[in-house]
Amino acid sequence: MDNILPAELKKLFEMAVKASEKAYSPYSKFKVGAAIICKNDDIYTGCNVENASYGGTICAERVAICKAVSEGNKDFIAIAIYVDSDIIFPPCGICRQFIAEFSNDITIIYGNAKNIILSNIRDLLPNSFSL
Ligand code: THU
Repeated sequence: MDNILPAELKKLFEMAVKASEKAYSPYSKFKVGAAIICKNDDIYTGCNVENASYGGTICAERVAICKAVSEGNKDFIAIAIYVDSDIIFPPCGICRQFIAEFSNDITIIYGNAKNIILSNIRDLLPNSFSL
């Protein structure tokens, strides 16, 4: 289990579940929650925030990351993403690029109430673009 204890991952996923309750998703109806843990053990959560313009929608992962970065934290270890749905989806392309901005070794767990998948940004976004 990469660089974080399973118990911590479980806690992180539970925080993502809790964060999904705050989702603002009147258009898609998907409630997504994310929780990201930093090297100093600080955790930030986020939910998806949709917009009538559709394109203005922000995913749960990016809300959590922006909260962390805006508080001075960007050394990430792992991010958990929960979707309140039968469909499990991994982070979207924009969120993968957003995660890869900070490290090419961030554990990613994503799932729903039935299944959780363990991955890493280096597997979800190989050969990522960076400057
Ligand atoms: N969504 C996320 O929050 N994270 C993702 O990685 C994929 C999609 C949200 C955005 C939108 O509110 C809804 O799920 C459907 O796309």
